[in-house]
Amino acid sequence: MKNKSAKVRRNDPCPCGSGLKYKKCCLQKESASPKSRNKLLYLQKHGIRLKETKDIDGIRKAGRLAIETLDMVEASIRVGMTTDDINTLVHDYTIKKGAKPAPLGYRGFPKSVCVSVNEVICHGTPGDRVLEEGDIVNVDVTPILNGYYADTNKTFFVGKSGPAAQKIVNVARECLKRGVTMVTPGNRIGDIGFAIQSFAEKEGCSVVREFVGHGVGFDFHEPPQVPHHGNHGEGIKLVPGMVFTIEPMINLGTKNLKILDDGWTAVTLDGALSAQFEQTVLVTEKGCESLTPFPLQ
Ligand code: MF3
Ligand code: CO
Ligand code: CO
Repeated sequence: MKNKSAKVRRNDPCPCGSGLKYKKCCLQKESASPKSRNKLLYLQKHGIRLKETKDIDGIRKAGRLAIETLDMVEASIRVGMTTDDINTLVHDYTIKKGAKPAPLGYRGFPKSVCVSVNEVICHGTPGDRVLEEGDIVNVDVTPILNGYYADTNKTFFVGKSGPAAQKIVNVARECLKRGVTMVTPGNRIGDIGFAIQSFAEKEGCSVVREFVGHGVGFDFHEPPQVPHHGNHGEGIKLVPGMVFTIEPMINLGTKNLKILDDGWTAVTLDGALSAQFEQTVLVTEKGCESLTPFPLQ
């Protein structure tokens, strides 16, 4: 990410992107309220665009659609269906609801949803892989509704699951829960990763490092990055209006991965199971609101 900490002068274009001169825009607001001060500071210092009420409403609506989409997929999952069948379900549902699937064409991604089975960590490209009894399958959806993005995923069981599948899915869900619990103004990004990593490792599992949570809302991937490992008290301080994902990828064996020849599919290096859950969260004055809420028990 570019370092944008250089000082903005009165007659420069305003860094908020309004098109007005700085002196006619955020410079006036800077002294007004702590909110507008933070807005400019976070943009200049970290490239983070804090969200306003109307933006949050837009992301919340996209989030509701994302959750409906996951619910629809969950109700349809059957042994014998292919990952491409899930792509068709998600694509058609998204379009029917007046939204667009963000993955389609994103940096050349060929499909409308990521579908990641068993040893696939993330970015599984839908194709002719058939779901089998006992598999786990992660479905990661990101609709764009009225210009706003919400990003969420869950890992589902296919048919009857064995103990290893249950273990990794339960640990991954609890990791997301513990990460979300750290989201409150004044805490830091590192507190989230620390909470996730400590729990995952206590359970004998490992945390993927190569993929991280991210700012989201105006775009698919915005600053900041949100690692799922880290140290308590480190990183950017959370302030109201921040919207980002937490999406820990947790492995039963090694944390290391490789990318398949399609250039997307990330798999565990040892072939062991990997699971993930993701929500888009908002930092509020009081704490946190999930904009893609589902129970994390
Ligand atoms: N939804 C993924 C995430 O959580 C990103 C997928 S990028 C794609 O960040 F191109 F593979 F869709
Ligand atoms: Co994401
Ligand atoms: Co996602």
